[in-house]
Amino acid sequence: MNVLAMVGSLRRESYNLQLARAIEERNRKRFGMEYAELGALPFFNEDLEQEAPAPVRTLWEQVRSADAVLIVTPEYNWSVPGVLKNALDWLSRVEQPLIGKPVMTAGVSTGAMGTIRAQLHLREILSAPGIRARLLPPAGNEVLVTLAAQKFDAASGRLTDEATLQHLDGVIGRFVDFAAAAR
Ligand SMILES: Cc1cc2nc3c(=O)[nH]c(=O)nc-3n(C[C@H](O)[C@H](O)[C@H](O)COP(=O)(O)O)c2cc1C
Repeated sequence: MNVLAMVGSLRRESYNLQLARAIEERNRKRFGMEYAELGALPFFNEDLEQEAPAPVRTLWEQVRSADAVLIVTPEYNWSVPGVLKNALDWLSRVEQPLIGKPVMTAGVSTGAMGTIRAQLHLREILSAPGIRARLLPPAGNEVLVTLAAQKFDAASGRLTDEATLQHLDGVIGRFVDFAAAAR
């Protein structure tokens, strides 16, 4: 099984990127993970979509060939970051490779809300007609990592909070089963 990770932060030391890496490292026996380069995408422009720029075609192909997509994102101003929305807009047109694709969402914030507002918006976006992803049911499967500075090691950047890692293992196990059942 192969999973495509879409990370909504372009920051080099992003907590969200580190969350994706923790998922990758702890599940090497279950799936391989590739990372989409959302920072390489131009701004969505309808004039370009029929002869889409190379990074857009790469993203379409990565999503098409993935068995499942993991979206890990910070919350920016109570919603999803523009880079992630931009990627989803490209994915909603012409090729529409997310239709029926197993997707789960996760996020880390430095504050106490753990990206809940961003993920609620994200799930609405993922249900739009051109996207129609097959969402892992959120009940029991929400990954809302709060107070990042307390849960990631400052020197290595790695996620070290044991309770978070345990929760993550359970959710990812259910996501793998969900994605396998959709194949
Ligand atoms: C432009 C901007 C807007 C933000 N808005 C929110 C917000 O609405 N809610 C929240 O919990 N954190 C917010 N934050 C703080 C992020 O949780 C924090 O910067 C986090 O580290 C970003 O994720 P990253 O480490 O993966 O880059 C915001 C940060 C930025 C840069």
